[in-house]
Amino acid sequence: MQLLEQALARFAEVYGRAAEAADVVDHTACTLATCSASGWPQVRTVLLKGYDERGFAFYTNRHSRKGQALAENPRAALCFHWAPLAEQVVIEGVVTPVAEAEADAYWASRPRESQIGGWASHQSRGLKSREVLEQRVAEYAARFPEGEAVPRPPHWSGYRLAPVRIEFWRARPGRLHERDVYEHTAEGWCHRLLNP
Ligand SMILES: Cc1cc2nc3c(=O)[nH]c(=O)nc-3n(C[C@H](O)[C@H](O)[C@H](O)COP(=O)(O)O)c2cc1C
Repeated sequence: MQLLEQALARFAEVYGRAAEAADVVDHTACTLATCSASGWPQVRTVLLKGYDERGFAFYTNRHSRKGQALAENPRAALCFHWAPLAEQVVIEGVVTPVAEAEADAYWASRPRESQIGGWASHQSRGLKSREVLEQRVAEYAARFPEGEAVPRPPHWSGYRLAPVRIEFWRARPGRLHERDVYEHTAEGWCHRLLNP
């Protein structure tokens, strides 16, 4: 098995266990780190909406702060921590937008309420008052009548992070935790253990 496939199989194994663990609130939640052109790091939580050999997909508003950072600098990282499992996976890579058809398919699977919210929220921009947002929600709810498909806003879409480094961490007694990393280098993918 190629090393990248091996890393993805490892991710699938721990992700599957996290999905089944009753005490993991949402196994898809991860921290997304971006870095603006000026070098400031930024982090926030997003939900993983799929992964395969191409990378790890999440959805958002492309006009958001993260969207701006990714437009300036497509390098990003995702950090999953499943506390009840005492496991962490950190994935670094390069982000590209998902295909329009893929974004359409995911948008169509969202509840109508979230779709209206996607239109109403100018994510990450200043908001004068909660009432202003509620007013916009009401306007879009009226614009897109119940029972009819809500189109995807052009600025609402997904990104896929193609991994260049995948690190696994598992808690062990005495803080002698297990760490190992799959990294893409000039010679191809390599795998090595790390000190905790
Ligand atoms: C559990 C959880 C899941 C979230 N999932 C998403 C998500 O999938 N996409 C998204 O755009 N924001 C999500 N958010 C909100 C983001 O953390 C963040 O507040 C928002 O995207 C704006 O980030 P930005 O200003 O850095 O762009 C989530 C927040 C939490 C707490």
